[in-house]
Amino acid sequence: MPANEASKPLVFVTRPIAEQALTELAGFARVDLWDDEMPPPRAVLLERIAHADAILTLLTDRIDAPVIAAAPRLRVISNLAVGVDNIDLDAATRAGVAVGHTPGVLTETTADLAFALLMAAARRIVEADSYTRQGRWRTWGPRLMLGRDVFGATLGIVGWGAIGRAMARRAAGFSMRVLYTTRERKPAGKPHRHNKAEVPGARRVALDELLRESDFVSLHVPLTPETRAMLSAREFRAMKRGAILINTARGEVIDQRALYEALASGHLGGAALDVTSPEPIAPDDPLLTLPNAIVTPHIGSASHATRLRMAQIAVANIRDALAGRLPAYCANPAVRLREPT
Ligand code: DGY
Repeated sequence: MPANEASKPLVFVTRPIAEQALTELAGFARVDLWDDEMPPPRAVLLERIAHADAILTLLTDRIDAPVIAAAPRLRVISNLAVGVDNIDLDAATRAGVAVGHTPGVLTETTADLAFALLMAAARRIVEADSYTRQGRWRTWGPRLMLGRDVFGATLGIVGWGAIGRAMARRAAGFSMRVLYTTRERKPAGKPHRHNKAEVPGARRVALDELLRESDFVSLHVPLTPETRAMLSAREFRAMKRGAILINTARGEVIDQRALYEALASGHLGGAALDVTSPEPIAPDDPLLTLPNAIVTPHIGSASHATRLRMAQIAVANIRDALAGRLPAYCANPAVRLREPT
């Protein structure tokens, strides 16, 4: 290896990412790439991180306190995701390791998928396509594949972050009534700071009212101790009969068994899930037997352009931290970066 190459910092990349971003990374670092579709086993992760100055991770890599402790040179964990629930943020902060992530860039792409799932569930598109492929389409039928109107229906958005608001903007194009919940406090007597400008007519309500009133409920909260299993049997019972649930957030936000029961009993009209618990969902999970459940393999941000941008941001976050700066997109901004060794 040429001397100047050997002096570059070492970055462990836990999966093949966009080629262009890897080339950018190789411009300032030695790249140790785990070139496999599946995550590196824990023993491999511990071995490869031991000498790394940075690691580029995916949401399927669990970066907990023992992993961080096994990496004495590590200065940044750069997650190719907006969510950082796979990383022990406190342990990283205590160790002086920055945690980078990729907010913003995937907002519209993820909202596109959430709205596509809403439409697919409302109009039974997946079921109708299978019906055609199975050769069951014999004639036009006045009672065939009846679904629900999206136009003019009420959409309840749980979580009023960037993706939730992007979902609301799409709903406005379908003249939907939009209700939302947020944990953010609003100053007394003032409208919510996001509300007026972005989504005229959207109304902030308590979760119970949102569940009671909505024809569609779409989840857009991060996974935290407060949001884990926030929708369970009680909440599903509180939803309107025939309502449809969309989840593009994290599988653990709902109690999946309770969702199955609510769908199987006919209380809920349908569910469209891009995220499950666990991931991947077991092929024999009872949810997959239901015609009114759609399950996609966590593809919310999966467009060519967005995945490239995410990879470039993840690389830029590494570049920042290795230059001694906080990453531009930092999930633990209180961190005091550890000195290079
Ligand atoms: C994220 O970024 O957290 C998504 O779940 C994957 O894009």
